[in-house]
Amino acid sequence: MKIVMLGAPGAGKGTQAAMIAEKFGIPHISTGDIFRYNLKNGTELGKKAKEYMDQGLLVPDELTCEIVADRIFMDDCKNGYILDGFPRNISQGEYLTKVLREAGQKVDFAINVDVPDENIVVRMSGRRACPNCGATYHIVNIPPKKEGICDTCGSELIQRADDKAETVKKRLDVYHDATEPLIQFYKGLGVLYTVDGTKPMSEVFADITKILED
Ligand code: AP5
Repeated sequence: MKIVMLGAPGAGKGTQAAMIAEKFGIPHISTGDIFRYNLKNGTELGKKAKEYMDQGLLVPDELTCEIVADRIFMDDCKNGYILDGFPRNISQGEYLTKVLREAGQKVDFAINVDVPDENIVVRMSGRRACPNCGATYHIVNIPPKKEGICDTCGSELIQRADDKAETVKKRLDVYHDATEPLIQFYKGLGVLYTVDGTKPMSEVFADITKILED
């Protein structure tokens, strides 16, 4: 089962991808998490990616595509995976289609989590993330049991640098320009499914699970 998550920044892709990965026993591959991990560890890739991420821009394809192509053919991906944050533009979508086709494979489901821009800004400002294990919370909607502390690993939660209001607006612009056209792209491939991402998290999850199990 090869799944691509589509949706605006803050639509809940990461939240849902983590739950789906757990339920179906497949890896959750987030390009944003890969870049943040590299950033935290001071790698060259992390330093280069930071320049773009801090401005709300996409990291160039040449830094992104190969990382994904290497990751999706690793052993743990044999039964499938869920891609969260990739592809992010048409050229990445075409790249993914090509490398999969060369391996006799294809994307089975492109799940578009639909949330209007107005809701996004509220969500992003309340989001807190664990820098250690990647778990995501929201100070009002999905608070951790103990304020500021990750339920899963006990680390101190942080606010992502790119969740500042002006950067969020830029990310939304980039989403509408570059990423939204992928909805038509996957519709054309006959694998697009849209869910209402404004529903409570558990309902969104139930809707996605139904699509994947039908
Ligand atoms: P990335 O990490 O992929 O960020 P994003 O797509 O902007 O998405 P987010 O992680 O911000 O949001 P999400 O949709 O996962 O929402 P979440 O579940 O956290 O990318 C970051 C940057 O890396 C990019 O800007 C770019 O620079 C670079 N990058 C990454 N991939 C790239 C690529 N392929 N090419 C080039 N550059 C790339 O939820 C958001 C909040 O809402 C949370 O607080 C959550 O708890 C809450 N929430 C979730 N669901 C619900 C719900 N149903 N109801 C209420 N609240 C909810």
